[in-house]
Amino acid sequence: MSSSTFNPDLKDDADVQLNADGSLRHLLTLKGLSKDILIELLDSAEAFLSPEGALPVRSKALNGRTIANLFFEPSTRTRASFDLAGKRLGADVLNLDVNTSSRKKGESILDTIYTLEAMQVDIMVVRDAGAGVPAYIARNAKDFVSVLNAGESDVSHPTQGLLDILTMRQYRQDFENMTVAIVGDIQHSRVARSAAHGLETLGIGELRLVSPPAMAPAADDMPFAKLVDNLDDGLRDADVVMALRIQRERIGNLDGIPGIDEYFANFGISRERMKLAKPTAIVMHPGPMNRGIEIEGIVADSPQSVITKQVTNGVAVRMAVLERVMRTLDAR
Ligand code: NCD
Repeated sequence: MSSSTFNPDLKDDADVQLNADGSLRHLLTLKGLSKDILIELLDSAEAFLSPEGALPVRSKALNGRTIANLFFEPSTRTRASFDLAGKRLGADVLNLDVNTSSRKKGESILDTIYTLEAMQVDIMVVRDAGAGVPAYIARNAKDFVSVLNAGESDVSHPTQGLLDILTMRQYRQDFENMTVAIVGDIQHSRVARSAAHGLETLGIGELRLVSPPAMAPAADDMPFAKLVDNLDDGLRDADVVMALRIQRERIGNLDGIPGIDEYFANFGISRERMKLAKPTAIVMHPGPMNRGIEIEGIVADSPQSVITKQVTNGVAVRMAVLERVMRTLDAR
């Protein structure tokens, strides 16, 4: 992994996210999160979905509560999704504009957190380019505060992992007999890591991580997955195909990274290439999507594509997570 910037001693810690009684207090990673908690969150998210065209589900579970969205990295979907999820649960949602916030002026993360605690914020949703930042905040937060990881360097993006797994379950149900191919810049993808960790816990039949060698993860990073460097081999008879963006902002050395045309020719999910997967296969992408690079536009818009379904599921998953951690805080 090429995780950057923050203090490398402060790695994510699966234990920090649970209370002494095992209930979910923060959501930092899917790595090591129990099957029971995963299934509870997926089932709860299902209940926050309404039929297409109907009004979104609302609840009063977070009435009177305050959520702060702290995004120290760009975001469209995740931030909007947490914003709507909080509002649909009745919370006040504060979207901190990082460009004008004090952290840019050199204030430490913890001073920002203490300031928000003093304003009686209950849940902090954090996206940061530094590995270990969400866990660091969680360790230092007051016991009436919960921290949710909304994307941490290339390490973890647990709510994305949950929404991806929920989408797979809706179309395929049975993880043991499912073959999932995640294709693209695996090495720099927190999306791939979170999906992989959740799928491992749920007993995935076969997980293929398909990428050019320069974008492959280390062999011991996700040892339960099969590393594949040829797209045809990766797609053959797959039930689920997930394309990923090339995360240039995280790639220090571009040596060995293919150019756009070469990349699309060898690793782009095209209509032609999709014929290798099962006819019933679904196509996923976490966004933001680069049509004509990692995925052909016609595939993204095809009936096999569940990309917008992922976005809908994202709001439901975040409602489920917010509601779950709030119950833990309430039981204090
Ligand atoms: C991803 C992210 O930020 O990790 N997007 C998302 O959250 N939906 C993937 C990406 O940036 O490519």
